[in-house]
Amino acid sequence: METYCGDALAVLRTMGADSIHTCVTSPPYYHLRDYGIPGQIGMESTPEEYIARLTEVFREVWRVLRPDGTLWINIGDSYAGGNCRYRMPAGLKPKDLMGIPWLLAFALRPEGWYLRQDIIWNKPNCMPESVRDRCTKSHEYIFLLSKSPQYYFDVDAIREPYQTMERKGQRRNYQPGMASSYSIPHGHAVQHGNFAGLPLNPKGKNKRDVWTVSTGGFKGAHFAVYPEQLIEPCILAGCPEDGTVLDPFMGSGTTGAAAKRLRRDFVGIELNPEYCEMARERIAATEVAYEQTSIDLEQTAVCDPG
Ligand SMILES: C[S@@+](CC[C@H](N)C(=O)[O-])C[C@H]1O[C@@H](n2cnc3c(N)ncnc32)[C@H](O)[C@@H]1O
Repeated sequence: METYCGDALAVLRTMGADSIHTCVTSPPYYHLRDYGIPGQIGMESTPEEYIARLTEVFREVWRVLRPDGTLWINIGDSYAGGNCRYRMPAGLKPKDLMGIPWLLAFALRPEGWYLRQDIIWNKPNCMPESVRDRCTKSHEYIFLLSKSPQYYFDVDAIREPYQTMERKGQRRNYQPGMASSYSIPHGHAVQHGNFAGLPLNPKGKNKRDVWTVSTGGFKGAHFAVYPEQLIEPCILAGCPEDGTVLDPFMGSGTTGAAAKRLRRDFVGIELNPEYCEMARERIAATEVAYEQTSIDLEQTAVCDPG
């Protein structure tokens, strides 16, 4: 595990090429939060300047990624004029949705990135809004990008159980390989009911691109952190065990903690020294928790030979 306290671009430039399996990160959002440190990204006076800085960082991420590597970016949108600290960017009117996530996605494509998917993070416990002329915003994006057209992606590691409808209209989990209420035989077979005609994979169904995960992350941080549960699939699909995960905007170290718990190596970068320390302590505590669990399991096995 390596954590660097410094500017993402400057630190990435010191790192060797082609060494990282996957990068899982959430950059500072445009004018959402002042992290109170010189050199921070996010407080640029126009969206174009902000996107240009992020593009430069992700150009270095490209260099350090292996040729079969992937990049997962969690980013949210906001409305023009919602924050009086910056002047209205040219071409935007107050109340316009800025489309920041898509500006970034479209800026990365000509850099060589393959824009593979827009995953929707659906937040069932989103912040209420007092708006009366639109719906309450309850989602953010996770973009999956790759360096090459063919890349490492462990689709089986993130499969989900099938669900089928019972006659009463209730949903019911269908564990792969088990008979459902529709009498699905093992393995690939013609399915009746909802899945008529579709082959079933005994390992489960392919993960869908809308991920419902409640917000609420690490309690020690007073800034936006994503939940570990949100980014676990990115690590599982994007990095083999003992491979390396990168987060150039580490914050409180959520990606590092999840990587450790899933037995992946981790490289993290964070500009704010206070957050760096928080992340280091958190990731170290995660390691201890993991080792302690292993010890507990070993002791249980010794105490209970049956
Ligand atoms: C959205 S937060 C990341 C939160 C993180 N995913 C977590 O769960 O804790 C973005 C982070 O980027 C950091 N940051 C801002 N500008 C930076 C820069 N130039 N280089 C490195 N980190 C920077 C901020 O201090 C902040 O901690």
